[in-house]
Amino acid sequence: MSADAFLKDFHLVATIGATPNNGVDRQAATEEDRRTRDWFAGFATERGWEVRVDGIGNMFALVEFRPGAKFVLVGSHLDSQPLGGRFDGAYGVMAGLHAAARIEEQVRAGGELPPFNLAVVNWFNEEGGRFAPSIMGSSVFAGIMDRSAMLEVRDLQGVSVQEALGGIGYLGSDAGPEPVSYAEIHIEQGRILEREGLQVGAVDSSWYTQKLDIEVLGEQSHTGATAMADRHDALVAASKIVLMVHDVTGDFEEEALVSSVGQLTLEPNSPIVVPRRVHLVADLRSNSQSIVEAARESLLRDIAALAEEHDIRINVKDFDIRANQYYPESGVELTEKVAADLGLGVRRMQTMAGHDSVAMNRVVPTVMMFIPSVDGVSHCEREFSTDEDMMAGVDALTAVARELVFG
Ligand code: GLV
Ligand code: MN
Ligand code: MN
Ligand code: MN
Repeated sequence: MSADAFLKDFHLVATIGATPNNGVDRQAATEEDRRTRDWFAGFATERGWEVRVDGIGNMFALVEFRPGAKFVLVGSHLDSQPLGGRFDGAYGVMAGLHAAARIEEQVRAGGELPPFNLAVVNWFNEEGGRFAPSIMGSSVFAGIMDRSAMLEVRDLQGVSVQEALGGIGYLGSDAGPEPVSYAEIHIEQGRILEREGLQVGAVDSSWYTQKLDIEVLGEQSHTGATAMADRHDALVAASKIVLMVHDVTGDFEEEALVSSVGQLTLEPNSPIVVPRRVHLVADLRSNSQSIVEAARESLLRDIAALAEEHDIRINVKDFDIRANQYYPESGVELTEKVAADLGLGVRRMQTMAGHDSVAMNRVVPTVMMFIPSVDGVSHCEREFSTDEDMMAGVDALTAVARELVFG
C-alpha cells in the first residue's frame, strides 16, 4: 500500500460527517459513525479479512496468518467529539489498516510466516462526548468496565448505548480476538513535537485523570415575579462551581493540574424560568494522583459550603477515574529504534489526553506513539497534522506492528 493510497483513504474518511470548517462530527453510534464503520468494514472485506463486532460495538478486522495464534492489535477510534477534528482517533485507525495491509502484502509475497496474527481495531466510543465515560469500548474489552452497565448508559436525549448501537446495526455478539499486544498511533494534541521539530513521540506514561459529575438542585420559579431574596437559582450556584473548577488549578504549580467544566445542561432552560437543575461534568487531570485528590477534596469542601450558602442541594459523584499508566519500556525503546531506523526525530513523552491504549495497557504490553499536531490544538475543527507527518507515522507504526507480529 502506497503513501498516496493512505492519504486518499484518510481524506475520503474525513468527508464523513464533515463540518463547515474542516472538522468532523461523528459521535459514537450516530449515522455518521455508522458510515465510517461501513467504510472500515469495506476496507477489510475487500482484502478478505474477517470483520468481527463484539457486544459493545468494537470492530475488529482480522488478518490471519496462523489459525489459532493470538493477535497483535493495532488501532484507535473513528468516533469524534461534537464539532471535533478529523485526525483524533481516525488517523490511528487508518494508519493501522494501512500498516496491516503492508505487512500482509510482505508476508503473502513469500516472506517468513509470523508467529502471531494481526487485527486492526476501531474501538467504540473513545471520546465519551455523547455517552460518558470515555474510552468505553476498549475498557469493556480490557475487562475494566462492565458491559451490561455500559449498554445502559444514556445520552442527553435518553437514548441508551444498546439502543443506539442496535439502531446503526453495530451491536454485535462476536468474541474479540485474543490479544498478545496492542499498538496505537495518535496525534499528540499538544505542541511539544512541533516545538522541537520531531516527527515521533514515544509515549512512556499517561496522566492521572478523574471526572466529577455534579448535580445542582435549586427551585424553579418565575424570573419576574419571584423576589430576589426568595430565589434558589441552580445556575447561579453552578456558575460559581465552574469558576471553582477553573481556579483550583491556581493552588498548585503552574500546569501541574488542568481542569475544566466541559459539559453543562440546564433545566428547564427557558428565558423566563429560574433554573431548577443544572448538571455539570468537571474533568481534572495531573501527572500526580495526589494533586488530583487534593484538588477534589478542596472542591468538595467549597461545594458543600456553597450549597449551604445558597440553601440548595448539590450532589457530587466521582467517575471515570484513570490511574497513571506506565507503558512497558520495551515498547518505548521499540518506537525509539524504529524512528531512528527511519531517520525520524523522536523523544519520550507523556500523554495528558486519554487513549484506548490506557485501557489496553492494563491487560497486554502496549505501545503508544504520537505524531505532531499543528499548534497543538485538538477537539476542535482546527485540529491539523501534515500529510508528511501522517505518512512518517504510518511507516513507524508499520515497523512497530511488524516487530510485534514477528515476536
Ligand atoms: C478523551 O478523548 C480523553 O482524552 O479522555
Ligand atoms: Mn483520540
Ligand atoms: Mn479525543
Ligand atoms: Mn482521548
